Amino acid sequence: MLLRAGSLEFPLSQTKLFGREGRLVLEVGHGDGRFTAEIARRNPDWNILGVEVSAGSVARALKRMRREGIRTVRLYHGEARFALRNFIAPRSLYRVYVNFPDPWPKAKHEENRLLQTEFFRRLSTRLIDGGQLLLTTDHEEYWRFAQEQAQASGLFDVKTPPPPPHHLETKYALKWKEQNRSFYHAVFTKTGEDPEPWPVIERFSMAHALLSGELPQVKSFEKQIVPFAGGHAIVLEAYRALEDHSLVFLAHLEEEDLTQQVLIEARPSAHGIYVGISSFGAPLVTAGVKAAVAWVTDWLEAQGLKVVQRSY
Ligand SMILES: C[S@@+](CC[C@H](N)C(=O)[O-])C[C@H]1O[C@@H](n2cnc3c(N)ncnc32)[C@H](O)[C@@H]1O
Repeated sequence: MLLRAGSLEFPLSQTKLFGREGRLVLEVGHGDGRFTAEIARRNPDWNILGVEVSAGSVARALKRMRREGIRTVRLYHGEARFALRNFIAPRSLYRVYVNFPDPWPKAKHEENRLLQTEFFRRLSTRLIDGGQLLLTTDHEEYWRFAQEQAQASGLFDVKTPPPPPHHLETKYALKWKEQNRSFYHAVFTKTGEDPEPWPVIERFSMAHALLSGELPQVKSFEKQIVPFAGGHAIVLEAYRALEDHSLVFLAHLEEEDLTQQVLIEARPSAHGIYVGISSFGAPLVTAGVKAAVAWVTDWLEAQGLKVVQRSY
């Protein structure tokens, strides 16, 4: 039920993921999953993908799906922009729900809002003809902002009917109801498609190196920022294993719409010192991983090891 992006082929196959073809529906920022469970019960033929950046919320939603025996929902802990671009095949998405998105009310934070022209352009390539995004919010200003942004894309028709009653039963809706807040709803219907195809992120089958020599005794390590085309890696820490003196580097990678924390290991192998990505956390092997592996390899070379092979 919980997707591990590193072990999946992009875009996702509905048959592999849900065991069947169906109407593919995305819910962005599902929180505790109350609404996700409700739409799954109402629409047993839908294949529902929930995407949420908060790990705690994903855990709560997962528990709810299990408790309620819901089998038509898959959850992904991560960014909606990334999921939309990489998981969803072109023209395959029936509907998107966005309930009570973070409003980022301060003008200087506006760029963090999800529903911007760029998002609508990307969305237009993934929705089926006539596919829709349904927004419900208590934030009038964001509601207007989203409409302006969709209209600026020239790819959506916008209507603003009252919110359907079941959209006002989410955790946040219940909270705002208690405070007598007003609710705003908008239906964005695809009318055109962005010419940019928004291809999936580039992934690599190889990102490793072999070196000869002894791994150094690391006494101290300073954080390193490694820029690469399309993003940057921050090598945060180096750790040493107790048994075989392997070194492990914790790296934070930011590229396109993806943020990953990965472990790069340097460990003795039958062929020498192997430097590569640890499978821990099912990472995606991206340009950022290659940059981090290259940095660790160069760093070890500077410590006196000899590079035998670079495969990145
Ligand atoms: C205000 S809460 C609303 C939660 C739920 N929809 C509800 O109505 O109770 C907004 C949710 O969106 C999630 N979120 C914010 N930005 C996101 C993004 N770019 N991708 C996925 N989830 C996001 C947050 O972690 C949070 O759980």
